[in-house]
Amino acid sequence: MLSRRNFLTAAVGVAAATGLAACAKEDDSASDSTSGGSKALVLGFSQVGSESGWRSANTDSVKEAAKTAGYTLKFSDAQQKQENQISAIRSYITQGVDVIAFSPVVVTGWDAVLKEAKAKKIPVVLTDRSVETSDESLYVTLVGSDFTDEGRRAAKILEKVLEKAGHKGAVKIAQLEGTTGAAPAIERAKGFKEVMDADHADDWKIVVSQTGDFTRAGGKQVMAAFLQSNPDIDVLFAHNDDMGIGAIQAIEAAGKKPGKDILIVTVDGVKDGFIAMSEGKINAIVECNPLLGPQLMEVVQKVKDGETVERWIKTKEGDFMQDQAKAALPTRKY
Ligand code: AHR
Repeated sequence: MLSRRNFLTAAVGVAAATGLAACAKEDDSASDSTSGGSKALVLGFSQVGSESGWRSANTDSVKEAAKTAGYTLKFSDAQQKQENQISAIRSYITQGVDVIAFSPVVVTGWDAVLKEAKAKKIPVVLTDRSVETSDESLYVTLVGSDFTDEGRRAAKILEKVLEKAGHKGAVKIAQLEGTTGAAPAIERAKGFKEVMDADHADDWKIVVSQTGDFTRAGGKQVMAAFLQSNPDIDVLFAHNDDMGIGAIQAIEAAGKKPGKDILIVTVDGVKDGFIAMSEGKINAIVECNPLLGPQLMEVVQKVKDGETVERWIKTKEGDFMQDQAKAALPTRKY
């Protein structure tokens, strides 16, 4: 479920109401174009960053779909910093774009800037990640995955992985969390725990859990520390492929075999994840589809035209076990 808890606006220190923070990267992916004599729709898009293979595929998908739709895209990379995203959104408000879309780096602290957009009658569409807000009218819809369900699916597929590996008895689990405060980190952990508490309270235990910030470097560093403090870990649940791949490097450096000595379940399904899985180093992947561009552009047009859209437009996804990796690899689109 999309989190709808009331939340007071966090005090957000923002340097300027206009212009982007110094370290954010902005580009206009299309020049002002016209279609059929009327001015092209202008979309301001604030991206989280470029922390993972998933994110790169998502950025490409958004840029390509905007181009195909003939929109003027004002794109900004927040480099995983909320203050950069807030500055970008403020800049889009000042520029008077038609629609603002963004993938929020964290769930809280958006009310103030979203109220500014509302005051200027600029509709906001969330993509990929949700926010917690005190006022539901501050955004129109969310186009993205059900992260809680991804967490549940990770736990369910781990049951199969353990069975296949012939693992009996207690299961010591290490969890590599995504960015602290981000919807996919909170909700994947929640969904996984839900299944664990309901069905495996006696045998599964998360013995260590820490953020690797959704990056390969983070995954490697944190997994190395996990192995120091808990050398007898049975399973790694990584909230994305990139952290899982970083962790594989740490596991190999510690003289262990990823996928055998430590069973690994990750989320995303990017090509590098599938390569690691086809090499036997990841045991299962829960897919999270980054190709949201076409769906987003459709919704943006509807919102601009004043049409009613669903509150949450969910993405369809699958799960993959290791024995499916080789066959699936050539068909992976990202
Ligand atoms: O919000 C989606 C998550 O963000 C992806 O699972 C992760 O790889 C990315 O950084």
